[in-house]
Amino acid sequence: MNDSSNVIYRRSTAEDAEAVFHLLAASVRHLAPTPYSQQVIDTWMVGTVVDDYRNECANQQIWIAELARFPVGFAQAVPGEIKRLFVHADHAGKGIGSRLMERALNDALPAGTGTVKIFALLNAAPFYKKWGFQEIGRTVLPDRDEGLPPIDMIEMENVF
Ligand SMILES: CC(C)(COP(=O)(O)OP(=O)(O)OC[C@H]1O[C@@H](n2cnc3c(N)ncnc32)[C@H](O)[C@@H]1OP(=O)(O)O)[C@@H](O)C(=O)NCCC(=O)NCCS
Repeated sequence: MNDSSNVIYRRSTAEDAEAVFHLLAASVRHLAPTPYSQQVIDTWMVGTVVDDYRNECANQQIWIAELARFPVGFAQAVPGEIKRLFVHADHAGKGIGSRLMERALNDALPAGTGTVKIFALLNAAPFYKKWGFQEIGRTVLPDRDEGLPPIDMIEMENVF
């Protein structure tokens, strides 16, 4: 049996900030040498701390995917935008990203219809295309500390 059938999806609490931070850090380590350089990966989390995620976790903006009580992925959305979606590399390709995406889309579309944006990592664009998102432009991750190499992203959009 695929272990993804045992995954539980729940809304975050303030205590999930550590898990979100570490899942993100672990997930991006797999994105070098393509599509991101090792220099970009090594500096990805510079200037980022666990507490950056505390409020968003506390106000339940984030969905946590949990296997045997261990967080293996998360998704965050606000009306009109999917802000983050990460699945640990050890658990990728088992449908967990899709289950998180369904929940994030519900949060992004409180009225059931409308435009949803995603600032996608270069590797994730094919995943979002499966959900009907189209590339509308290229950009970089905002609010990086000065002097750090830029993180290229693809701006995507879908109208539901
Ligand atoms: C992208 C990501 C969220 C997908 O999660 P996942 O759990 O592996 O995805 P799923 O198993 O639900 O895959 C759903 C479908 O998308 C496809 N897919 C997933 N990732 C893909 C990728 N990078 N490129 C192409 N197709 C991909 C799967 O093959 C599957 O296709 P199918 O329905 O035809 O079988 C996950 O791989 C991840 O966290 N990657 C690293 C971090 C990242 O890039 N996050 C996005 C930030 S914008």
